[in-house]
Amino acid sequence: MSTGATGAAKMEQVSRALPAKIFNDSPAGGFNDKFNRLPFALSHNLGDHPLFALDRLTELAKTLWALGGAKVVLQEGGASFENRWDEIQVKALSFINGIRDIQESGSWALLKSVQEDPDYKECIDQCVVELSEVTGVDLKKEITWIDGYIFIASPRSVTPHHIDHESNFLLQIHGSKSFNVSDPNDRSVLYEEEIEQYYAGDLSAATFKPVSQEKAYVFPLEPGAGVHIPSKGPHWVKNGDEYSVAFSINFCMRETDRKARIYQCNHYLRKLNFVPTPPGQSALKDRLKMFALGQPGKSKAGNKNELLRQNLKRLDRISKLFGGSRGSESTTESKAV
Ligand SMILES: [Fe+2]
Repeated sequence: MSTGATGAAKMEQVSRALPAKIFNDSPAGGFNDKFNRLPFALSHNLGDHPLFALDRLTELAKTLWALGGAKVVLQEGGASFENRWDEIQVKALSFINGIRDIQESGSWALLKSVQEDPDYKECIDQCVVELSEVTGVDLKKEITWIDGYIFIASPRSVTPHHIDHESNFLLQIHGSKSFNVSDPNDRSVLYEEEIEQYYAGDLSAATFKPVSQEKAYVFPLEPGAGVHIPSKGPHWVKNGDEYSVAFSINFCMRETDRKARIYQCNHYLRKLNFVPTPPGQSALKDRLKMFALGQPGKSKAGNKNELLRQNLKRLDRISKLFGGSRGSESTTESKAV
């Protein structure tokens, strides 16, 4: 990438270089059948694209760092599938060196909100248009929050087992990885209580279980390959022998946001010794819980976690009023709600 190009000239270069079509048609049972329900493989045309070359990504990281708000994360790459996020050490290295020397630095880097740079925003906008067409879902209408991530990881780095609220399309750009995803509705690998705890603020609530690997969908990813991860699909990743770059389009949707608020309500109901009904099983109970929660605040959320959890304080106050400190163990006297 030429460093002498002006911003406008560079943008024009990249714009021209974006493929006319980023996503290729998925095999039967992909985009229009499994979207936000089950994981599936996909193919794309961004493999080894110059927008994701290490020197361009270093430039992007500097831009994001200058914006503040922890948009650049650099951690040790030697985690295990079972690690919690808060057990992984911050890398004692400048992010510039960590990314530039990623083949040897033993690092795991995450760039968030990459759409702050117009080149990447253009790429994400094109992805959303194409994904709306292939999924048959009007994503512009349904998306409540969107963020572009780029993961840059040293050889053999591991991403621990976790769930995300967001739906995700992850595109492998450079290097290879083994990407594992579970069915978000399989309660042998993801417990109802874990989802409730996640939505109450514990981002590592979903634990890796003995049965997790056995039941996982495993996607070997090379440049040009990708995977769709439905909201709350547990996933964990092991990179191959070369450094890896992956581009991830994350977004929240109206329906999953609604379920998230019901899970938050259920978390507190369980603390009050009730047996909460999962969202989607009783329209009446769902409506009552949404009523109890109130409308999502209109205040400006700084990030998706604030957006998701802005009603938690209200729930916490209500729970305390009713003695919510009694613990979460169910008894034979527990009531289903
Ligand atoms: Fe994730």
